[in-house]
Amino acid sequence: VSAAPSLPVGSADLPIGVFDSGVGGLTVLRALRAALPAESYIYLGDTARLPYGTKSEHTVARYALQAADELVERGIKCLVVACNTASAAALPALQQRFSELPVAGVIEPGARAACAASRSGRIAVLATESTVRGGAYTRAIARIRPDAVVSAIACALFVALAEEGWTEGAVASAAAERYLAPLRAAGAAAPDTVVLGCTHFPVLLGVIAAAAGERVRIVDSAATTAAEVRSHLAARALLRAAGASPPTVRFLATDAVSRFAEVGGRFLGAPIAADDVELIDL
Ligand code: DGL
Repeated sequence: VSAAPSLPVGSADLPIGVFDSGVGGLTVLRALRAALPAESYIYLGDTARLPYGTKSEHTVARYALQAADELVERGIKCLVVACNTASAAALPALQQRFSELPVAGVIEPGARAACAASRSGRIAVLATESTVRGGAYTRAIARIRPDAVVSAIACALFVALAEEGWTEGAVASAAAERYLAPLRAAGAAAPDTVVLGCTHFPVLLGVIAAAAGERVRIVDSAATTAAEVRSHLAARALLRAAGASPPTVRFLATDAVSRFAEVGGRFLGAPIAADDVELIDL
């Protein structure tokens, strides 16, 4: 990784940069747009190198720095790492590399949402292999709630199902039941809260909730991340005024732009035109 690109002068008119390995981070972009509708956004999906979750931390950190450099070079006022795997592997490195820029990850916000939702303090984290292996969620939850009992389940197939758009039906349900079987088997000691520790997973909410059972609360980091971004921008007087020129949303993908547009629309909750997605190389 080369030297950090120089930052353009911070301006409220610059977009917020958001990245993920693929379309998963669009669930975070959706929450950001709901919370901060006057802002412009530039979203990068590193679709050529997805999935991140099965790769080593070292590799994910390298990819994350390249994605962040690309966004910073284009001019952003805030960076949102809308990927748990990349947040776990690279958030401190990104914060150090871009020390003048607010950089928000999704793990702390997800941990906060889980701790707020749980009564019993028994929390299950569903995440990628890499996020589970690194233990970042367990540590983040323990910092907020030291008495919490955290179990973590690696659900690699959920990423493939989400990218494929198979978010309901027999295959998705069978995968959810298989991954969540340990929770149901725990009986009275089962977690009362499940945190979706991968930004691809909210589109599978229906099958995950059915497999977890009625009494389990399911939370994700999207809304709490958006709230954190708002407070970073407010603290630096970088919120964009409503009623200025209409905000823009741009998309960059490192491969398969038409697939990104087609599947991504479901994650974003709004259609994405293939012409609005620029193919880039990192
Ligand atoms: N969306 C990413 C996350 O939040 C990971 C998906 C992948 O494995 O690339 O962890």
